[in-house]
Amino acid sequence: MSTKEKINVSLLPEHVAIIMDGNGRWATSHGRPRIFGHKNGVTAVREVTEAAAELGIKYLTLYAFSTENWSRPRVEIDALMGLLLETVGNQLSTLQKNNIRLQTIGDIEQLPPKTKKALENAILQTKDNTRMCLILALNYSSRWEIVEAVKHISHKVKAGILKEEDINDEIFSAHLTTANIPDPELMIRTSGEYRISNYLLWQSAYTELYFTNVLWPDFRKEDFYNAILDYQGRERRFGKTGEQVAKKTITSI
Ligand code: IPE
Ligand code: IPE
Ligand code: MG
Repeated sequence: MSTKEKINVSLLPEHVAIIMDGNGRWATSHGRPRIFGHKNGVTAVREVTEAAAELGIKYLTLYAFSTENWSRPRVEIDALMGLLLETVGNQLSTLQKNNIRLQTIGDIEQLPPKTKKALENAILQTKDNTRMCLILALNYSSRWEIVEAVKHISHKVKAGILKEEDINDEIFSAHLTTANIPDPELMIRTSGEYRISNYLLWQSAYTELYFTNVLWPDFRKEDFYNAILDYQGRERRFGKTGEQVAKKTITSI
């Protein structure tokens, strides 16, 4: 039985979020400049997008550029923005063919105008696609997003549109850039780093975390299937006891 066949399609996560890490180290290990790693990372993006759509996953969020990544050398930032522009252009027809909708989270206003325009165009052209949402986290950080939400909410309270006592989890979630996107059930980080790096902090309150040593440019469908299988073996308790969760599973059958 192949790894893919072992996956229980009735127990798929609806939303998988990935921290695509290790491009630079991959390039160094091949004796090449960092951007060579980013270029090869595009193959992994294509593979994982295809694997997720084929399985029937509804939302795939990829961390492509963090707010903190602006601190990298200018030449790397420029190369990354150029690569993004090129990839969005190249992949648009594939997204259309596969009925995949493109979305972004993060402040894309700060991206170079050409890159921003290409993204906006792809978002508009794919807006009616229904098979899967591919969400790119670009110039994104959770703390930025949370602070923005707080500002937005306080403004509404001040203007009398929202009452302080009505603020709850749900209202707060609705003011994040991920409003209308379900919380990820599974988060994958490649390259053997064990941290979240300012990614979906609010949304990952009960997300299952999966870490692999594979460097992002080497990540393939099989690696993605392994992460899903690992997730399917977890017991998600949400604060309850294992006995309560087991009982619920039996009675709901
Ligand atoms: C992830 O790979 C891609 C981005 C953050 C844009 P890195 O560039 O962080 O690669 P390492 O972690 O330095 O190997
Ligand atoms: C996180 O990777 C951001 C992206 C994958 C875009 P980094 O490589 O920037 O994270 P740190 O700095 O090692 O935590
Ligand atoms: Mg890194």
